[in-house]
Amino acid sequence: MPKYIAVAGKGGTGKTTFASLIIKYLIQNNKGTVLAVDADPNANLSEVLGMEVTTTISELLEQTKDPKSVPVGMSKEVFIEYKLQQSLVETKNLDLLVMGNPQGAGCYCYANDLLRKYLERLSSGYDYVVVDTEAGLEHISRRTIPQVDWLFVISDASARGVRSAGRIHELVQSLGSAVKSELLIVTKTKKDSLANLEDEITATGIALIGDIPYDESIATYDEEGKPLFELPNNNAAVNAAKEILVKESI
Ligand SMILES: Nc1ncnc2c1ncn2[C@@H]1O[C@H](COP(=O)(O)OP(=O)(O)OP(=O)(O)O)[C@@H](O)[C@H]1O
Ligand SMILES: [Mg+2]
Repeated sequence: MPKYIAVAGKGGTGKTTFASLIIKYLIQNNKGTVLAVDADPNANLSEVLGMEVTTTISELLEQTKDPKSVPVGMSKEVFIEYKLQQSLVETKNLDLLVMGNPQGAGCYCYANDLLRKYLERLSSGYDYVVVDTEAGLEHISRRTIPQVDWLFVISDASARGVRSAGRIHELVQSLGSAVKSELLIVTKTKKDSLANLEDEITATGIALIGDIPYDESIATYDEEGKPLFELPNNNAAVNAAKEILVKESI
């Protein structure tokens, strides 16, 4: 069984940045093989990882909706599985799946069911599955992602961000046992951010595990479109992420 780590939060808070810092930590410390799953409809994990993505799961499933698309002699199930396999981007220790936009009107339940089974089987071949997801936690609530060992709820250093993390906490509670450990991370912090936000943080009901300081080189890398994966190991944000992950024995 792989260990599942998910990162969730309001838009723009630093989810994808933190997800990439987790992946960087796992790979550099030889923690094993990693499957990265971009489950945010506004997908951009591939860019911070510096990986080329040609298609998404949603696009591939869309192509299987028309019964005429199924090759003669092939069952629909085999065809969908074949399509799903095409979505995996592979490198040495790190593979990437991009979910893409949610499907249009109506639930394409049959394909979702196959996707769930496919993901479960695929995930079992990795040591870690790292999921970058949106605030609605759709893939976790639908169980496309079967379970989460650590859910890092990301907030930026604003009262609004922290309150939004509190709302995610309510959603997580409604998911029951699917999420084992839920932890809050405040990102883009400056000197007094945590002290100023203390009451708001307590009000979320989520345990604060640490913060990622505002880091000029992250902003610069993003401006230049450079993968965050290439940040030097002495970078403050890289080290702050490492400290959090070590604390959790990840
Ligand atoms: N620690 C940090 N220091 C400085 N800038 C940061 C830091 N973390 C994130 N940012 C910046 O904040 C912006 C949003 O970050 P990121 O894309 O990681 O957030 P997100 O929550 O994944 O956003 P989205 O909802 O759009 O997917 C980016 O411009 C990024 O450069
Ligand atoms: Mg993102």
